[in-house]
Amino acid sequence: MAELACLNGRIMPISEAKIPIEDRGLQFGDSIYEVIRAYSGHLWLLDRHMERLKASILALNITGVNLNEVESQIKMTLQRSGIGDAIVYLQITRGVAPRSHAIPQNITPNIIITVRHIQKFPEELYATGVKAVLVEETRWARRDIKATNLLPNILAYNEARRRGAFEAIFVDQADGMVTEGSHTNVFAVINGVLRTPPADHRILPGVTREFVLWLASKEGIEVDVSPLPVSELMEAEEIFLTGTLTEILGVTLLENKIVGTGTVGTITKRLHSAFREEVRKAIESAA
Ligand SMILES: Cc1ncc(COP(=O)(O)O)c(C=O)c1O
Repeated sequence: MAELACLNGRIMPISEAKIPIEDRGLQFGDSIYEVIRAYSGHLWLLDRHMERLKASILALNITGVNLNEVESQIKMTLQRSGIGDAIVYLQITRGVAPRSHAIPQNITPNIIITVRHIQKFPEELYATGVKAVLVEETRWARRDIKATNLLPNILAYNEARRRGAFEAIFVDQADGMVTEGSHTNVFAVINGVLRTPPADHRILPGVTREFVLWLASKEGIEVDVSPLPVSELMEAEEIFLTGTLTEILGVTLLENKIVGTGTVGTITKRLHSAFREEVRKAIESAA
């Protein structure tokens, strides 16, 4: 087993993959990305990640990307790595050109893939839940595009770490609405109803979020997708975070306030075990 990179279709050790200094991804963050998880060699929800990738490419009008080739490169790199439980990082930059704010025409994108062993969270975290803190929403207005401009997310996440929390939840000061976490989407159970903010420009349409909404309807859980005021989040019976690496993770402490009973809620637990069951079935049917 070996952690590998694939740069524009060529597989190599990660340390050997190099990008020129005039790549627009480096200079402007003019690039987009996806993070995909493999469970036992099965690329989980790959189609959904590819659809979101396509949406990001269209939104930024990045040209010259053949999505079928990108998908084959992902599969080939994963297979060659021999890693079953992997995290696949894919980044597409607009390409290399002399630095200019004007978007150059006809440049070739750089397609970067890495496949690494997953650093799973300890199971104990799912049993006990985590702390989250609230931070001011400081990001741009197109958070639905999975662009690599992640500085506000990184600063928020590090503030959360400094405050002893697992995640920072952004709150828009303009209207008091919860948007999402620095690297997760946010759900809450309020008066028995599963709530999450809508997938508009204010949040990333998480692949896990969408799957959880599907699971909830399958499980007969009442769902309300609508703007979520922070005042309601503070009073929630349950809160959980979703993400490709995170899966479904209960929040038991919000700032210094205990959420619900202070233990991971029943709907959270139910959805997480249903999620894991779907993963198990997907691995089984791929085998
Ligand atoms: C800002 C943000 N929101 C939500 C998510 C969760 O998305 P997904 O479930 O597709 O991993 C991520 C994932 O990295 C993210 O960066």
